[in-house]
Amino acid sequence: MNKFPAVLETISDLNLEQIQGLLKLSQKIKSKDFDSPVFLPKRPIIATSFLEHSTRTKHSFAIAIQRLGAMFLDFDAEQSSLKKGETLRETLLTLNCQGVDLAIIRTSVSGELQQFKGDSPLKIINGGDGINQHPTQALLDLLTFVDADLPLKGKTVSIIGDCRHSRVTHSHLELLPQFGAKIILCGPKNFLPDPSELNGLNESISMTTDLNEAMDKSDYTYLLRVQRERHQESEDQRIGYQYGLSLQTLKDNNWLRPIFHPGPANINVEISDDLIHSPYYFGYEQVRNSIFMRMAIIQAMIQSAELGDQQQHRVQRKKI
Ligand code: CP
Repeated sequence: MNKFPAVLETISDLNLEQIQGLLKLSQKIKSKDFDSPVFLPKRPIIATSFLEHSTRTKHSFAIAIQRLGAMFLDFDAEQSSLKKGETLRETLLTLNCQGVDLAIIRTSVSGELQQFKGDSPLKIINGGDGINQHPTQALLDLLTFVDADLPLKGKTVSIIGDCRHSRVTHSHLELLPQFGAKIILCGPKNFLPDPSELNGLNESISMTTDLNEAMDKSDYTYLLRVQRERHQESEDQRIGYQYGLSLQTLKDNNWLRPIFHPGPANINVEISDDLIHSPYYFGYEQVRNSIFMRMAIIQAMIQSAELGDQQQHRVQRKKI
């Protein structure tokens, strides 16, 4: 694999060869009994720092780190000096002095990690930043498609729901077309991005407010959580969400197909209880695969991402 970026902020930080390498490595890890940590040559220290709530990402990274045999530091943002006003950069410099090699960071501030590109005290993986990106979720979703023998080339994925506020969607817009898939974004008008926000994207992406159209034209469906915390109460919320799917709706309309969801799900809002517990639901498979893909990403970052000389030495005090 080519040298990895020291800061993995967006899918576009990786080239296709690196993404394919991660797929291969995660499948190799999945096929082994990984009780014994064999993947890392030395014992790096890896911290998770979650400045926004998480169940799946935080814990799957914690498990991945420990299965790789690295030292795991659970940085508790709520109890840290960030709460006394220390900046994230000072925090990372401090962790660097304590020997931390890599930090997985979740933040509610979109684009907060951009400042570290080319100038970071340690390696960073974006664990989800505001509405911007969630690259490791998109990569583990890709593993789930591939592992379940669900081809992407020539297929269409409908992403339905709160696309505008979904960092997972923004990562998939960069990822799935690289594997030959088209994407239809679907939801109420105020849940769809402004076309100007889709700058730099290609003809593989279209948008509609018509649920029937999106479902009829797609092979797979990726449902999204209505992210009430990220927007003001809208008319759609007051009158009820109209884009939820149930097993019965899928049957009635000939829409039975694999249904993905990054979680957490609002059950009986965007997805019904019977659909989430049906064989068509791949959400739990996504969670299972998250460990393998995140192990692969960590291994690649530890082994082949390099900080520049200047960055590596910047926290060494020069002799007076
Ligand atoms: N999919 C996802 O990021 O879930 P969490 O918020 O629980 O980490």
